Amino acid sequence: MHLKMNVLVIGSGGREHALCWALGKSSEIETLYCAPGNGGIQDVAKCVSLNTEKSDDVIDFCKSNAIEFVVVGPEAPLVAGLVDDLAAAGIEAFGPRANAAALEGSKGFMKDLCREFDIPTAAYERFSDAKAAKEYLKTQSIPVVIKADGLAAGKGVIIPTSMAEAEATVDDILGGKFGGAGAEIVIEEFMQGEEASFFVLTDGTDILPLATAQDHKAVGDGDTGPNTGGMGAYSPAPVMTDEMIQTTLETIIKPTVAAMAARGTPYTGVLYAGLMITEDGPKLIEYNVRFGDPETQVLCARLNSDILPALRATANGNLSGVSVSWKDEAALVVVMAANGYPDAYVKNTEIGGLAEANEMDGVTVLHAGTKKVDQKILSTGGRVLGITATGKSVTEAQKIAYSAINKINWPDGFCRSDIGWRAIAREEK
Ligand code: AMP
Ligand code: GLY
Repeated sequence: MHLKMNVLVIGSGGREHALCWALGKSSEIETLYCAPGNGGIQDVAKCVSLNTEKSDDVIDFCKSNAIEFVVVGPEAPLVAGLVDDLAAAGIEAFGPRANAAALEGSKGFMKDLCREFDIPTAAYERFSDAKAAKEYLKTQSIPVVIKADGLAAGKGVIIPTSMAEAEATVDDILGGKFGGAGAEIVIEEFMQGEEASFFVLTDGTDILPLATAQDHKAVGDGDTGPNTGGMGAYSPAPVMTDEMIQTTLETIIKPTVAAMAARGTPYTGVLYAGLMITEDGPKLIEYNVRFGDPETQVLCARLNSDILPALRATANGNLSGVSVSWKDEAALVVVMAANGYPDAYVKNTEIGGLAEANEMDGVTVLHAGTKKVDQKILSTGGRVLGITATGKSVTEAQKIAYSAINKINWPDGFCRSDIGWRAIAREEK
């Protein structure tokens, strides 16, 4: 007999809608819950309002609803130790413990690990004193990269265009612009190349490569303007050839997983490597200790297997021998954001046409920042929707995604018109 289980997903973004969409297809789930969820997630999971910053509240909810497995979406609860607290209460959870989540929680921690274990990354130094940081800047040239050490909601990386701006950035960050996240900074070499995202599952020992993706961080067409959490993505990323994947595994992923285990702080969960593909091969820009957003939307669109057994095996140390299969198709997601994003934007604006878009062949509308009020969908965040499509090629997936967007009526939102351009240029060749 096969017993089904209750599962809880923590989070409220497009990544969590994608995870709930994938988990909703699992044959092993009795009831799928999501806390707090959003206006789209409520179609595939039971949304519950829980203060997910309070481990005790999450544990109480799990106990009173017979939750056997928790999937933690965002980085903040991982860095704060939610998985440690759940484990102490005897509840199985997907995601790293706090001492391993430091790979994302502290950029200095991640860079020091690279230095110690010879993992290719940009040259760097760490500072908590502005005077010392500025002395170091004198030995560097523009462009240089300055990062707040801690979590800053994707805004903690500055690439100044002059030395004066670099010095002012040091003062801003160490002066408290990002609060405690900027009590320390990393100054690093600017790397030239094409970026790619690479995802693996690991149980601390074994590694299961998932898939590659490329996201578009800049807000404007042609990858211009300020950085955002991601305005679109596609998978697979053609720059990640089989050879590039192998090199990334051998020189970056495996040494990291081995180093964390050797230190007595094994990493379990999804490890997301942000890579720069340079002339000298792949180099690590940063680690994230969670699935990417919006990359997860395209990974889930290509996934052919039940995701639950793979996530549980990752959490339980049983990943050896587990595999997942992928559709041959490409997937692409276009993010629709509220006008003004990533600066100030309006909330609670009405969005129409979502059902018409969602009904199209190969299209899934994933919600990132919405709520449902009286059968109306209202925006609640900066990034609001992810229109996800599959196709024989990135070119075809893009065409389908944008024709779905044509059906959406949201005067207060916008999207980029060129998601996937690098891959499409390659396909045209
Ligand atoms: P991160 O939050 O560390 O991923 O940085 C955000 C973005 O800043 C990255 O996606 C890159 O586009 C850029 N970036 C970060 N570090 C570097 C670097 N050392 N060289 C060039 N670009 C970088
Ligand atoms: N798409 C970038 C991220 O999830 O950090």
